[in-house]
Amino acid sequence: MQEFRLDVADFIYPLFVTNGTGLKKAVPSMPGIYQFSVDNLMKEAEEVDRLGIPAVILFGIPAAKSASGSSAYDPEEAVQRAVKSLKDNYPHMVVVTDVCLCEYTDHGHCGIVRGEEILNDQTLELLCKTALSHAAAGADLVAPSDMMDGRVAAIRDALDDAGYSRVGILSYAVKYSSAFYGPFREAAGSAPQFSDRRSYQMDPANIREALKEVLLDIDEGADIVMVKPALSYLDVIRAVKETTTCPVAAYNVSGEYSMVKAAAANGWLDEKNVVLEELLSMKRAGADIIITYHAKDAARWLREEGGRD
Ligand code: PBG
Repeated sequence: MQEFRLDVADFIYPLFVTNGTGLKKAVPSMPGIYQFSVDNLMKEAEEVDRLGIPAVILFGIPAAKSASGSSAYDPEEAVQRAVKSLKDNYPHMVVVTDVCLCEYTDHGHCGIVRGEEILNDQTLELLCKTALSHAAAGADLVAPSDMMDGRVAAIRDALDDAGYSRVGILSYAVKYSSAFYGPFREAAGSAPQFSDRRSYQMDPANIREALKEVLLDIDEGADIVMVKPALSYLDVIRAVKETTTCPVAAYNVSGEYSMVKAAAANGWLDEKNVVLEELLSMKRAGADIIITYHAKDAARWLREEGGRD
């Protein structure tokens, strides 16, 4: 009689990759999450693969940051090398890359900046270069998270023109300006150095605007649309699901993860049951795909439960 069921095939596991070798650096605000150098990332990928998680999304921590974030499209940077290595070692693993400049800019914003203004159109060109460098490395899907207007169309055109028509776009279509990204910004070193992201991320008070963004992104060529964060926005996931026939992804973000981890570490919550309930609620709301830092644990728990039947 159960209407919805979680499955390991629903998950995308986020991975942070950095330069150097032999590195596995803990992210203090996200217990269980690390920044990996490419060599160690392959060990992590082996575990992800063994657990049956079909996909990962990569975030990069570059060697150097600059005003224009130009290392975002450097073919020798960590993300590009990681994609290549993952596809060489685990060809069946779906490799998604986050396309954004905030990890690569010295000011921490997702686009080029003049004064305190984010320059939308000038940023598009750099996002296209970044997406192309990921495609060239072998990415299956690129996931623009910058929230500049028109970026899905620009990236789709750039990919098609360069012969990467098989590379899909998982669009962060509905990305709210949220306080739940705090721990991620520690993990990726991407906190904005001035102001905030409210000029390009969405107002948490809006839902019709979310649907507008979704329809625009689909029109521009998005293959999958995402709602982010997930837990405070289950109503938005449901509304998006009812608005489109495109697959819908939910991003169970860093702050949502850290809250559960902190409470569980204090013995205040039953981690397993809380996480499985949360993930199931995202599915019930309409998510076809769940990006979650809990993916490895959830995969283990689902396997244990399956074994008991
Ligand atoms: C980059 C990006 C962010 C997240 C994913 N891509 C941070 C932000 O927009 O500040 C957040 C993910 C998370 O919190 O888990 N723009």
